[in-house]
Amino acid sequence: MRKTLLVANWKMNKSYADLEPYVSALVEQGIPKHIDLALAPPFPFLDKLRQSLKSSSIHLAAQNAHWESKGAYTGEVSFGILKELGVEFVILGHSERRQYFGESDAIVAKKVKACVDNKLTAIACVGESLEERKAERTFSVIEKQIHAVMEPLNSSENLVIAYEPIWAIGTGVTASANQAQEVHAFIRTLLAKHFASSESIRILYGGSMNASNSKELLQQADIDGGLVGGASLDAQSFLGIINNS
Ligand code: 13P
Repeated sequence: MRKTLLVANWKMNKSYADLEPYVSALVEQGIPKHIDLALAPPFPFLDKLRQSLKSSSIHLAAQNAHWESKGAYTGEVSFGILKELGVEFVILGHSERRQYFGESDAIVAKKVKACVDNKLTAIACVGESLEERKAERTFSVIEKQIHAVMEPLNSSENLVIAYEPIWAIGTGVTASANQAQEVHAFIRTLLAKHFASSESIRILYGGSMNASNSKELLQQADIDGGLVGGASLDAQSFLGIINNS
């Protein structure tokens, strides 16, 4: 049985002053036992958020990291540094990193491998563009992305996959539950080719998930949680998803 995982990806949003009230709202409601919850703030908020989350079961996540452990990489952050800050999950290969910062499949694969080697859980993101979907290339794109990530790994531990169709991110257009499930099931068959233990890998859906559509998405057999952008910025709207899960 895979435990539902919900991750708030704040991207480059929110401010220092938002942290306490946000966490208080979540903690006051209480996080249901059947859900793993993680918050991925911008890097500079990690330490403060760790302090706020101390007496709660909510996990800390980061939005990126560099594959090297240290060195002259101005502006970068290593997995070791993130570990010192109490981070447990790291989002890697998000389509925004691929699109705006030139992260190729090879770079994403190196990051995921370094993450897993550091015993942090990688949330490896894959997803097709609208053009690719229209051209019926969704499955070939996903297969290439998943293969790149899986190839260097020796085990299925510390790995989460997030399927985020690019056309659904920040657009208000969600993949239908059927569309998402179809790709998630395909990803699961790809994972099974690499590891016998792949059944335990959680596959999250991301792309305009909100309190109205999350229930149906999360009811699908191969959708094990959500990577939530816009609807995670407000504690009440994120709570709407949590309470629907
Ligand atoms: P939205 O929920 O804003 O569409 O963003 C999804 C996403 O990119 C999460 O990583």
